[in-house]
This record gives sequence, structure tokens and C-alpha cells, in this order.
Amino acid sequence: MRKVFIDTGGDTCPKKKSKEVMEALIRSIRRAGLEGEVQVIARGCFGLCNIAPNMYVEPEGVWYSRFTLKDVPVIVRQHLRNNRLVKRLVHYPDRLVPAKRKRRTPRDGSARVKRNRSR
Ligand code: FES
Repeated sequence: MRKVFIDTGGDTCPKKKSKEVMEALIRSIRRAGLEGEVQVIARGCFGLCNIAPNMYVEPEGVWYSRFTLKDVPVIVRQHLRNNRLVKRLVHYPDRLVPAKRKRRTPRDGSARVKRNRSR
């Protein structure tokens, strides 16, 4: 399940309509039929007050900042439903969690040995 964290408890974000953003996010998630797939979690200050409001999406590790109420349905439709980043609103693009890579070694870290069965 995806989790979306929104700061509604700090000093700055509530002044920048973070509670309205959270309500709009919940409405948009319901409209998109994603209630069972996305959990919205209110929390306190992220320490990013100068670029508020802020939203953090797990497991991708995406920060959205400096967005407006109009951007919320776009984030829901584009990111949460269609798995495409809203690049113009992404903060810390260099910290994004890369897409799943194919595992090259077994989980235990041992190297795979190919046996020559031609003998
Ligand atoms: S009050 Fe929201 S990041 Fe600090």
C-alpha cells in the first residue's frame, strides 16, 4: 500500500492550506477509486517549511512541494493512479528511489555458479 504523508501540524504548512490539501487529497483518492491502495497520514513539521506545503509519497520516496490545491487532483491522477511523476512539483529529484532492478545475486549474497554439464 502506498502512503502519502502530509504536514498538517507544523507552524508553516497549516498557513499554506495543508489541511485543505489533505481534504482535497482524500476526496481525489476516493474519486479515483484508490481508497484501498493509498493511505493518507497527517504528521508534523518535515523541516521543509520554506517550501511548504509538502507531501511525501512512499514507497517511491517522492517529495512534492510548493504545490497548490489545483495540483492535488493532478498528483492523484498522474502519480497515484498512473505511476508517473509530476516532475514540475518534485522536490529532491536526486533522492528518488530507483525502480526495481533485477537481482543479480541470490538473497544470501552468494555467487551463482554455472556448472558445465557437457562432461
Ligand atoms: S511546518 Fe510544514 S514543513 Fe515545517
